[in-house]
Amino acid sequence: RECFCSFTTTGDILTQELLCIFGTGDLGRSLGQRLLQTGYRVVYGSRRPHSCGPLPERAQVMSHAAAAQSANLVFICIHRENYDFLETLAPELKGKVLVDVSNNVEKNLYPEANAEYLQRLIPGAHVVKAFNTLSAWALQNGPSDANRQVYLCGNNAEAKQAVSVVATKLGFTVLDRGSVSAAKELEDFPLQLFPEWRLPLRLAVGLTAFFFFYLLIRDIISVYIKEKKDISFRIMVSLANKVFPIVSLIMLSLCYLPGVIAAFLQLYRGTKYKRFPDWLDRWMLCRKQLGLLALGFAFLHVLYTLIIPIRYYVRFRLSAITVSENRTPEFDTTMAWRTDSYYSVGILGFGLYLLLGITSLPSVSNALSWREFSFIQSKLGHVTLFFCTFHTYLYGWDKFLRASSYKWYTPPGYMLCLVLPSVVLVLKLLLLLPCVDRSLTRIRQGWERTNPD
Ligand code: HEM
Repeated sequence: RECFCSFTTTGDILTQELLCIFGTGDLGRSLGQRLLQTGYRVVYGSRRPHSCGPLPERAQVMSHAAAAQSANLVFICIHRENYDFLETLAPELKGKVLVDVSNNVEKNLYPEANAEYLQRLIPGAHVVKAFNTLSAWALQNGPSDANRQVYLCGNNAEAKQAVSVVATKLGFTVLDRGSVSAAKELEDFPLQLFPEWRLPLRLAVGLTAFFFFYLLIRDIISVYIKEKKDISFRIMVSLANKVFPIVSLIMLSLCYLPGVIAAFLQLYRGTKYKRFPDWLDRWMLCRKQLGLLALGFAFLHVLYTLIIPIRYYVRFRLSAITVSENRTPEFDTTMAWRTDSYYSVGILGFGLYLLLGITSLPSVSNALSWREFSFIQSKLGHVTLFFCTFHTYLYGWDKFLRASSYKWYTPPGYMLCLVLPSVVLVLKLLLLLPCVDRSLTRIRQGWERTNPD
C-alpha cells in the first residue's frame, strides 16, 4: 500500500521529512518558514532557482521538476491562472499528494473549483484542498484561537491523512469536509464578509430605525404639535437611552425564542430526528451574533444612564424644583422602592449579560465542557432575560394602568418591547412544567413517539 506520510520515528528522534512548495510568494514563504520551524525540511520549486528572491534560511531551491521528484507532498502556492505549466510535470507529480492552497478574487469566476481543475490537469496525483482559509500572516505566526482550524477535502483518504498530519504538527485543528467536490465551498470561505453577522446586523438596524422614528414622533414631535414646546434636544440622550435598551431587550429575546420554538416542535413531532425548517436552522446559527449585538446595545444603555446626573437638563430641573418649592420635597417611599428595585435588577441583569458575552468568546467557551457552556448559555441566559424584562416592568411600575401613558393611543416603547420577552419567558415556563420537561428530555435522549399510521 502506498504511504504518503514518510515522517518516521526512530525512538524519539524524528527523521525530518522533506516537503515541497511550488511558489515563492508571501504564502509560500510563510508556509515554508512554519514548516522549517516545526522540524520539516523544505524544498522550493521555482522557474528561476537562482534568482527567486528571499526565502527562509535552510530551505533548498530547485527547478520544479527536481523539487517535485524529491518530495511526496507538494504544496501548490501559485495562482490558478498559472496552473497550466503543471501539466508538463505530470510524470514527476504522479502519485504525489498535491495540496491546493489557492483562492479566487471573486465567487463563481470559474465553472469548477481550483482543486478540481488541478486534479483534471494531473489525474495521476492526489489533490487535497487545504490551508486556503488561512492568511500568510496566520501561517507565519502559528495558530491562535481565531484561526485554529484547517479545512480540507480530497478524494484520497491517505492523501488527506498525510496533509492532516502536517497541519496537526503545525498546531492546527483539522476539519475534514469530505471529497474534492467540497473544494468550491472551501474556496468561497475567504470571500465571505461576516456572513453570520448579516441577519443580526440588519435586524439591529431595522429595530433601531423603527423605534427611533416611533419615539421621535410619539415623544418629541407630539409635544411640539400639542404644546408648541421644542424638546428636540432630548434626541441626543433621552431618546437614545430609550431606543438602545429597547432594541437590546428585543434582540436578547430573539436569541432565546428559536430554542423554545425548536423544543415545542420536537414535542409536537415526538422525535428529535426530523430536521428543523431551514429558517429555524439559520436563526439558531446566528444566536451568538444576536446576543453579542444585544450586549453592545445594553452597554450603550448603561453608559447613557451613567451620565444622567451630569446632564444640564437634569441639573436645571432639580434646581428649579428646589427653588419653586423652597422646601425639601416630601420623601416618597414607593418611589424609592421603585427606582432602587429597577436599578438593582437592571444591574443584576447586566452582570449576567456580560457573563453570557464573555463565555461566548471562543477562547473562553473552548475551556468549558459542553455541560458548563449549555448551563451558562441556556439556564443563566433565561435568568438574564428574566432580570432584564423584570427591570423594564419595574421601570413601568403603575404606568401600565395610567391612561396618560398612551399618548395618541400608542403605548410607550418599553411596553412594546416587553411583548416578545414576556412571550419567550411564558413559553419557557411551560417547558419547565414537570410533565412537559419529562417528555422533552425523553425525546432528546432518543425516544420517539410512534404514530398509529
Ligand atoms: C430604562 C438603568 C440595565 C433595559 C432604564 C432607566 C434607567 C435604567 C435609569 C430609565 C431611563 C430613562 O429614564 O429614560 C439601568 C441600569 C442598568 C440597566 C443602571 C444596569 C447597570 C438594563 C439592561 C436592560 C435594560 C441590561 C436590558 C436590555 C431597559 C429598558 C428601559 C430601561 C427596556 C426602558 C427604556 C424606556 O424608557 O423606554 N434603565 N438599566 N436596562 N432599561 Fe435599564
